[in-house]
Amino acid sequence: MKLPDLKTARVRNQQIVKYYEADILRNENLFKGKKYFLKTYGCQMNVHDSELIKNLVEGLGFIEVDKMEGSDLVILNTCAIRENAHDKVFGFLGRCKHEKEINKNMIVCLCGCMAQEPSVCEEILSKHKYIDLVFGTHNIHELPNMLLNKMSKTDIEVESKEGDVIEGLSYTRDSKIEAWVNIMYGCDKFCTYCIVPYTRGKQRSRKSSYILDEVLKLKNDGYKEVTLLGQNVNAYGKDIEDELSFSELLRKVSQTGIERIRFVTSHPWDFEDSLIEVIAECDNIMPYIHLPLQSGSSRILKLMGRRYTKEEYIALFNKIKSRIPSASLTTDIIVGFPGETEEDFLETLEVVNACKYDSAFTFIFSPRVGTPAEKLPDDVPLKVKEERLHRLNEVINKYSLEANERYIGKTVKVLINGISEKGNNKVCGYTETMKLVNVEGSKDLIGQIVDVEITEAKSFSLNGVAK
Ligand code: 5AD
Ligand code: SF4
Repeated sequence: MKLPDLKTARVRNQQIVKYYEADILRNENLFKGKKYFLKTYGCQMNVHDSELIKNLVEGLGFIEVDKMEGSDLVILNTCAIRENAHDKVFGFLGRCKHEKEINKNMIVCLCGCMAQEPSVCEEILSKHKYIDLVFGTHNIHELPNMLLNKMSKTDIEVESKEGDVIEGLSYTRDSKIEAWVNIMYGCDKFCTYCIVPYTRGKQRSRKSSYILDEVLKLKNDGYKEVTLLGQNVNAYGKDIEDELSFSELLRKVSQTGIERIRFVTSHPWDFEDSLIEVIAECDNIMPYIHLPLQSGSSRILKLMGRRYTKEEYIALFNKIKSRIPSASLTTDIIVGFPGETEEDFLETLEVVNACKYDSAFTFIFSPRVGTPAEKLPDDVPLKVKEERLHRLNEVINKYSLEANERYIGKTVKVLINGISEKGNNKVCGYTETMKLVNVEGSKDLIGQIVDVEITEAKSFSLNGVAK
């Protein structure tokens, strides 16, 4: 088979990466009409990586299908953050193995964060020989290359974590209204429970000029909202000389004039006053801040390596709320970290009662191989962890409902992004504060920012009527 010429990618520190460009491969029709099935687990970062994967495989001629059975290519974009994410992937792989016994030419690929875990790679090599391709989060751009040289044996491409930032990649975006924009990759925080710095590597910021170009292009293509993505966006730029700070970047993104901007996720330790100011001053920056707490006990926070105390967190929270009263604040909380006592847990509840979050993601601690917390004696019985999670969720849900009830009777701007799951004649979308609203109105509203009067509040959504 004659292969097209290799393209040279632009990378940040002058190194050169060679790859086959999807557009060129499209002309070769090598996989024209073949079917691919892509399943994405985990966070927004993975969802956005999948948009890149789609672009690459569709560039080769593959067509997306919604069933693994009968497809020619199966790609599992995996998550490693907690054990249950692993379990789900291995469960699905069992089905792939069975299918491959019937459909012998099916190519099975495992990528994403699990692929970056050495212990998982070892397990795949020894026990899951039906997997054709394993590639890490730093090697996605090489997928066409790997498929073109389709292996007869399992091929592992998990580049070193020090991988460069590759620019000039295209995405097949899931939405024509809201877009994800990576501003950085990886994380340098090394919270003791977290596997991300190991799977996604050290922090690498994209150059601001590329980010601003991408946002401008999205705006010109009619996108209404961008979400700036990073594990720790407010540390943006700290890894490159002469780069903008996150608040400076945000102001420049705001100046592009795109209608809505949000960002996930921020770390309380890097949350500077200038960031609060820029959110307060710029109308197109959404007053929505996800501020992970993890624990309300300063003792546990120290063991977690979070770099702030309970008091410092509450002070930051109050500073944000007093400067931006309309802001909605959400959080992540882990219960059952090794050594967490009932007193520690009560301190978490205390912070939740002080902050009255709009909503929260809550988790039971899951020991991850290779992290410092894995080595701590995990002395909290599972039953106690489950009971704490239940108690925590009850309080969180109470405040979510209260926060939502405050919207009743108000008129808010909703970016309508699709048909509502709640039945006929309803569309749905998000407020600037990221509240999901089911709206009575026609599907012609999709893609528009609409004034909606809120008529009803539930714990996880609002109902309203388009004005
Ligand atoms: N166990 C439980 N929850 C975790 N998170 C990260 N690592 C773990 C772990 N080992 C949670 C944190 C983080 C969110 C994305 O996932 O709360 O903010
Ligand atoms: Fe993980 Fe901490 Fe980095 Fe978040 S800030 S990705 S929890 S190490």
